[in-house]
Amino acid sequence: MKKRVCVLPGDGIGPEIVAEAVKVLDALALPLEYEYALLGGAAIDATGEPYPEATREAARRADAVLLGAVGGPKWDELPRAQRPERGLLGIRKDLGLFANLRPAVLFPELASASTLKPEVVSGLDIVIVRELTGDIYFGEPRGIEVRDGERVGFNTMIYRESEIRRIGRVAFETARRRGKKLCSVDKMNVLETTQLWRDVMNELAPEYPDVTLTHMLVDNAAMQLVRAPKQFDVIVTGNMFGDILSDEAAMLTGSIGMLPSASLDEQGKGLYEPCHGSAPDIAGQGVANPLATILSAAMMLRHSFGWEDAAARIERAVRTVLAQGLRTRDIFEPGTRLVGTAEMGDAVVAAL
Ligand code: IPM
Ligand code: MG
Repeated sequence: MKKRVCVLPGDGIGPEIVAEAVKVLDALALPLEYEYALLGGAAIDATGEPYPEATREAARRADAVLLGAVGGPKWDELPRAQRPERGLLGIRKDLGLFANLRPAVLFPELASASTLKPEVVSGLDIVIVRELTGDIYFGEPRGIEVRDGERVGFNTMIYRESEIRRIGRVAFETARRRGKKLCSVDKMNVLETTQLWRDVMNELAPEYPDVTLTHMLVDNAAMQLVRAPKQFDVIVTGNMFGDILSDEAAMLTGSIGMLPSASLDEQGKGLYEPCHGSAPDIAGQGVANPLATILSAAMMLRHSFGWEDAAARIERAVRTVLAQGLRTRDIFEPGTRLVGTAEMGDAVVAAL
């Protein structure tokens, strides 16, 4: 039985990096079939909508979705509901992809590519579990309107306890399979939503006696991530805080160009995408780092298909090319060899 992968190259560097990930998957000769569809700006240009019906259908019938990135200045002036980002939020919500796993692992070869001291980041291996379909990203009411003669912008930060509980379970289970430490991040000193968040996490804790649960306020967590990131194992937090902290965590590893992610629904169906964006400034130049997308494909094999061996082979191959000294521009340092997007993909294939 072949697994069906919906491939969404997206915008900017998306098509280039996705092509390398598909190249790596093809080299493993796995029982996969691909269905390509449009998302984001590419979809807006072709159909007028960022998440068109044809893409919705392809994504729904697929066993997993592999995504490049969406967005770019070309579409920034469009009304909010028609922007590429709305396509990304739309597919996350439509497929019920509430659990976003963002592992930040520092490859030893890249220790000096981080802006932090090597001793602070060497050996770093953490996972941010970000809730992805709730919070202020989706809360209603929202908008910009005129009140008493001036414009007012407003959004709603809201979580139901069932939403908190299901992401909490994913986080506890992730921690259980790793270092058994879970840090829940909130802002309970100010925000009621996150008081509920903390209460629900505490209620879950007795079901996971092997996992140590701690809590941290988000401002402190942002500071601790750069002060002493290795104190963390698994971090669980809401959509907004998770968006911010995961970019910060990405940078600890040297480049956001290295970080994969998985966004899972309740059945384990997932969407896999690099944490970085579409980088319109370097699109089409063949210089983008494809490793985050290649590592996202490995996460797809592991989380959606249960093909652990193939996933581990890809991860080992990435480690090998880094050890060989190959570097795209974002992780380049003197003494290493500068390569382009396709050359990096070819090297990973060779290392398989
Ligand atoms: C991310 C991105 C998205 C988000 C944007 C592009 C809508 O920053 O995946 O982290 O905020 O979730
Ligand atoms: Mg983000």
